[in-house]
Formats: sequence, C-alpha cells, structure tokens
Amino acid sequence: MWALWQCANVNAMDRLGISDHGWVHAQVVANLGLKLLRLLGEAGISPSSVRHHSLTPEDAEVIVVTAALLHDVGIAIHRDEHEHFSLLAAGSVLRDLLSPVYLDPVRRTIIWSEVLHAIISHHRDIRCLTVEAGIVKVADALDMTKGRYRVPFEAGKLDIHSVSTTAIERVRLSRGAAKPVRIDITLSNSVGLFQLDELLRRKLHTSGLADHVELAAQVAGDIPRSGYSPPMCSMEEPWRSPVREQHPRAKRQGRAVAETFSKEKGPNVW
Ligand SMILES: [Fe+2]
Ligand SMILES: [Fe+2]
Repeated sequence: MWALWQCANVNAMDRLGISDHGWVHAQVVANLGLKLLRLLGEAGISPSSVRHHSLTPEDAEVIVVTAALLHDVGIAIHRDEHEHFSLLAAGSVLRDLLSPVYLDPVRRTIIWSEVLHAIISHHRDIRCLTVEAGIVKVADALDMTKGRYRVPFEAGKLDIHSVSTTAIERVRLSRGAAKPVRIDITLSNSVGLFQLDELLRRKLHTSGLADHVELAAQVAGDIPRSGYSPPMCSMEEPWRSPVREQHPRAKRQGRAVAETFSKEKGPNVW
C-alpha cells in the first residue's frame, strides 16, 4: 500500500502539480470518514452494510476506513478516470488485507464489494448507493484546508482551485442542531466559496447524504451563514502565472514544500 501511495503522489504532485493524494490524504479522509460514520450512527442512521447485509457497525467502520485508504491509489496508474483504476489497484491489496481477518468467504466478499463500491462512487458524478460510500465521498471533499493545497500554489499553479483553497482556514465536523452532521467551514476570503461549490456541493449532491448534513460557511470576521447553499460558479480556464511557472526556483520551492508537508505536517482539520 505504501508503494501505491508513493506512486500516486509521484503522478499527482511531481508530474501533474496537483495536491497530495498519498498517505496524508488517505489518513485525513479515513479520519473524517470515521467521524461522519459515528455522527450518523448517533443519529440512528444505520450503515448500509448493517441494514442490507447484517454486518456489524465495526464492519462498517472497516469498510469506510479501507475505502478511504485505497480510494485514490488508482492515481498510481493515471489521474484521469483514476476512480476506475483504483478498483484495479485496490482489488488485490484488498484480498491480502481481508483474508486474515475475515475467514468467512461470504463476509469477506461482502466487505470487498462494499469497499469497491465506495471507491468507484467517490467519482463526483457517480451516485453512492450506500451510506458508507457517501461518507467516503464527502470526507474526500472535506480535505480542503489551505495547508493541504500549498503545493500547487507554491509551485506556481495559480488557478481558481489553488487560490480558492488557500482561503479555507478550517473544516470542522460536529453534531448538527437539525440534522445529524454539521460541517463548519471557516474562510479567510470569499474566494474560497468556489471550492465549496465546485467540490463539496457537487460531491454532496451525489453522496446521498445531503439531507443529513448542515453546511455553514463563515468568512473570518463575518456572521456565520448556516444552511449555506453556494451558487454555481462557471468553470473558467485556469489562470496561470507565466512568471512563476517559468521560474525554476519557484518550482523547487514548491517541491520542497510538498516534501516537507507530506512527511511532517498533519491535516488542519478537527
Ligand atoms: Fe479521487
Ligand atoms: Fe481523494
């Protein structure tokens, strides 16, 4: 698994100049996923694997964590359509992971199916058919705080994605007042709303969890906007800085930041 994460990050960070999609991202998504699963469970929302396959809540946690850890390993093959490649890359790893733990081949096959369903469903346009898949999809979208996106920004990739993510100061999960889950997002600048709209809202829409989530966005120093529903933004061509892109020192600095971050810095979440 470690080698897969490394290969995924070489493609993501070194070759494409996009943010970390390796070990740190996997941990963030797994952690957020577990928290979402438990918040939903406290509100009486059963995991689909419990409801439909009579598995235990602990099995559901295994599904969420395993899918979170493996959802992006397909980037080791290619970023484009990586959700499909992740099925391929995760399939054999999954058998090795599950075989010593799930001796019953039926239960093992159920877990295997549910994990792969969650992996393929993290594609923003694919509908999640299980609570567990919805959780992984939303958790994936929530790995958006500004430190997580320093890499493309520092490397000179100044498009709306990288600039907007630098405005996301904090993501916090808690129990909602009217719904099981509340997501509070603190922004330093309203440009961060693009990130909410482009990534979070779209993924929430196909996650199947939208009815269970309250979303509140607050621009620092502003009044909280509960139930925030960001407007659709038009996707524009990325704006690139020719000066920064051509400047080798900027690229080297970006690489250094990437390496430092992926090795040492944890997520700015919770
Ligand atoms: Fe992905
Ligand atoms: Fe991801």
